[in-house]
Amino acid sequence: MTAVQPLVARVDHLTPDDVHDVLGLAQAAGDTDGAYPLSEHVVLHIRHGGDAPAVHLLAKDHDGALVGYAHLDTTDEVEGASAELVVHPLRRRHGLGRALVKAAMEVTDETDPRGRLRLWAHGDHPSAGALALGLGFTRARVLLQMRRSLFAPLNEPLAPDGVVVRPFRPGEDDAAWVRTNARAFASHPDQGRWTLRDLRLRMAEPWFDPEGFLLAVQASTGQLLGFHWTKVHGGDAAHEHEPIGEVYVLGVDPEAHGAGLGALLTIAGLRYLRGRGLDQAMLYVDESNSPAVALYTRLGFALWSTDVSYHRVINPVTVAST
Ligand SMILES: CC(C)(COP(=O)(O)OP(=O)(O)OC[C@H]1O[C@@H](n2cnc3c(N)ncnc32)[C@H](O)[C@@H]1OP(=O)(O)O)[C@@H](O)C(=O)NCCC(=O)NCCS
Repeated sequence: MTAVQPLVARVDHLTPDDVHDVLGLAQAAGDTDGAYPLSEHVVLHIRHGGDAPAVHLLAKDHDGALVGYAHLDTTDEVEGASAELVVHPLRRRHGLGRALVKAAMEVTDETDPRGRLRLWAHGDHPSAGALALGLGFTRARVLLQMRRSLFAPLNEPLAPDGVVVRPFRPGEDDAAWVRTNARAFASHPDQGRWTLRDLRLRMAEPWFDPEGFLLAVQASTGQLLGFHWTKVHGGDAAHEHEPIGEVYVLGVDPEAHGAGLGALLTIAGLRYLRGRGLDQAMLYVDESNSPAVALYTRLGFALWSTDVSYHRVINPVTVAST
């Protein structure tokens, strides 16, 4: 087959026909690769649009058929732009993936003086790695999704002496939670930087449920030692899957590490989710976070999928000259 260099078009909005073609392309790739190439929030954005502007890159064949697609989100000022891309399984190794990533790099060069770009590959496929590394990106972050049945036995949560587990009290616990979260995630790329505003934005979400946001506190002093914020994910109009429980954020203050609070809080949260009638729980964890992966494995979670983030290596000369 000859390599026909396709046209990569950049658009801010997809037509209904484009939406149909992009989802068909993603489906074809997902069926072939065994991993769906786009994340849930990108699919929602494609289907329903959204407040945040997005850049869509469409690679079409000479006959107008969609053969490649990239979704580029340039709104994250902290981490820089992120992209997800897919090439039709029958049109791979013709330079389409490279053309899409280069087009995304041109966009980020325009929108970010540092030209930052993260490529997310769902499924850790070797072709994604070969493409990204070949264009000078580094394999920066590996995020595991783990799952566990909520029907499988769950031990009784046993609290160390003097520790009680109780639900979060909106308004009263906010500041202490932000402090403990920052301490627990001091070395975590995003989580440790959450502010009161970040917390309150989530408290205003329809899914927020303080009863599923559990705190471990020192009974005598009220000091916050750790927390397990659970979330019921899906099961509403915006999601096309059955509801599933999520270990949304689990954190233990470093001073309270080693006392079994991580296991205590995880089990308490899973029991809460089971009490809500859910049959499965999921979570995301950095592969490099071995203590957390070990804890979740010990509590019956197993690997469900792997997402890899490749980061563009910024040329310091380019940065200095901008
Ligand atoms: C990853 C993906 C986008 C690559 O698309 P593509 O159009 O086949 O990529 P290109 O033809 O532009 O390949 C560019 C380079 O990547 C490397 N590459 C791509 N696929 C490869 C493979 N299967 N094996 C080895 N190298 C590969 C090669 O270096 C290639 O250059 P070359 O053909 O000159 O040797 C495509 O396989 C895909 O859609 N995968 C599923 C979705 C996904 O993983 N997206 C995340 C991408 S970061």
